[in-house]
Amino acid sequence: MTHFSVKATQQKHLMSELTDAFENASIETAALDARLLLQHVTGLSHSDFILQQELELTSSQLSQLSALARRRLHREPISRIIGHSEFWSLPFLISKDTLDPRPDTETLIEHALELIGARKNEPLRLLDLGTGSGCILLSLLHEIPFATGLGVDINPGAIEIAQKNAQKLSLETRAKFQKSDWFSTLEGKFDVILSNPPYIPESELENLMPEVKNFDPDLALNGGETGLQPYELIFKEALQFLTSEGFLLLEFGQNQETQLIEILNESNLKPFLDCYTFKKDLAGIIRTFGAQFSF
Ligand SMILES: C[S@@+](CC[C@H](N)C(=O)[O-])C[C@H]1O[C@@H](n2cnc3c(N)ncnc32)[C@H](O)[C@@H]1O
Repeated sequence: MTHFSVKATQQKHLMSELTDAFENASIETAALDARLLLQHVTGLSHSDFILQQELELTSSQLSQLSALARRRLHREPISRIIGHSEFWSLPFLISKDTLDPRPDTETLIEHALELIGARKNEPLRLLDLGTGSGCILLSLLHEIPFATGLGVDINPGAIEIAQKNAQKLSLETRAKFQKSDWFSTLEGKFDVILSNPPYIPESELENLMPEVKNFDPDLALNGGETGLQPYELIFKEALQFLTSEGFLLLEFGQNQETQLIEILNESNLKPFLDCYTFKKDLAGIIRTFGAQFSF
């Protein structure tokens, strides 16, 4: 596959050639990926792509297409090849330093909006721990008009991308980003603390799909020996940073909910817990935890 090059020159033939190549490589989203690569190279919108089937690509477009197709055949995800991803119907730049935002994480946004409810029009202060591309913080700021927020990440490359995303979404006056090892450089209180921390147990990283294990950063995946180490720290430290009646929202991995509650019960947050709920993702998997506290 390293030597793959397209042979056709017309858009409709290239579409079938790429789809076949991707199907032969057992890529499940073969036709979609072929279209997205062709649109990326030609700059055509989806509707123009349908209307301009006879379009002849230039030789430089053809060599670019061959190079990008080879990357897909090496299992690089389309979003990384084209450099951006969609989350909560908003466009996000991504890079080698950021997780490719997952649709599952939209459950965290829905859960947060449910809990925040009537407080939506207050000037809430949000904190996103392990912000990556900034997708969680920026999507919520997009929904909550008077809120401001801080996104932190240990990876400075992620902070750079999150800042660019804030600018692209015109949210830079309400969203700030800084490098921090979880809470280590933080001061002050927050009304809503959110996190989608790395939660894959170290021993399971090897079993992940090539698209994930070879392209998402290890820092975004590796949750230590049990996969739950970041939660121990977050539950331990959150007390100091939550306002009275603050919310804590966390995404976690499949079947981790029982251990998550055990960690919560052993933490210093437990005496202040008012209530908590879980929320399922679109696949019916319990995916997020949301709690309210009174101090
Ligand atoms: C699962 S990714 C989530 C990224 C983004 N919030 C999302 O949902 O797409 C976890 C993020 O936590 C960051 N991270 C890992 N260890 C950290 C630490 N000790 N302090 C702060 N951030 C950390 C990673 O760099 C990564 O961006």
